[in-house]
Amino acid sequence: MSTSQTVLRSAALLALFAFLGTALVAATYQGTRDQIRENERLALLNSLRQLVPESDYDNNLLEERITLPAHPLLGSDEERFAYLAKLHGQVHTVLLEVSSREGYTGTINLLVAIHKSGEVAGVRTLSHAETPGLGDLIEIKKSEWILGFNGHSLDNLTRQQWQVKRDGGTFDQFTGATITPRAVVKAVYRALRYFNQQRDKLLLKPTPSNKPPSKQHPEENREKRDEQ
Ligand SMILES: Cc1cc2nc3c(=O)[nH]c(=O)nc-3n(C[C@H](O)[C@H](O)[C@H](O)COP(=O)(O)O)c2cc1C
Repeated sequence: MSTSQTVLRSAALLALFAFLGTALVAATYQGTRDQIRENERLALLNSLRQLVPESDYDNNLLEERITLPAHPLLGSDEERFAYLAKLHGQVHTVLLEVSSREGYTGTINLLVAIHKSGEVAGVRTLSHAETPGLGDLIEIKKSEWILGFNGHSLDNLTRQQWQVKRDGGTFDQFTGATITPRAVVKAVYRALRYFNQQRDKLLLKPTPSNKPPSKQHPEENREKRDEQ
């Protein structure tokens, strides 16, 4: 076999192996990505069910969701979802997907359930990359710390109190690990502010454009709106 034939054969073999390698990586990626998506869906469903007891809603929680455009208070450059818990057609709890990039490592993704009154129904950590034994105490499997948000709102805690104790607030930090809980407290606070700003949209309240014309005096309508 001449030198040029040998070179050509080696090149062809190399190309074949490169092709097979790439195909294998692509197939593995596809399979893993689908598995990761399915795991995320199951984790989300599990968290939704933990935050709103099944007896408290009669709709399909995973399907009744609103797509929210990216917003700084949601902590993401991408659109997120709000899941709506309804009973007899009325939304009573909104579950917001929010994120924080202020953790020790990577992004912390949370699900924050907020009653229509503006009180936190509960918070769960959906995913994170914090250090095992330090930052991972934000997981309900590891500690009850995340339950400390229940019942709190922008009305019953001041801006100052919406912080970890180290910063003069209400919420415990972990021993030797303040960064992670601080990030979570801030993200929950931002979620409540987002809820307050977008309350009518999230609770599917009629907007002026789809509201039937009212025969009442405009001032009466304004008072009603203020009461809501
Ligand atoms: C290897 C390593 C991993 C750490 N992981 C975390 C973490 O996941 N979350 C966290 O809040 N702090 C973590 N820390 C500690 C932070 O660097 C920081 O010291 C701490 O959050 C500050 O809290 P303190 O003021 O209570 O000490 C880690 C430190 C080291 C050395």
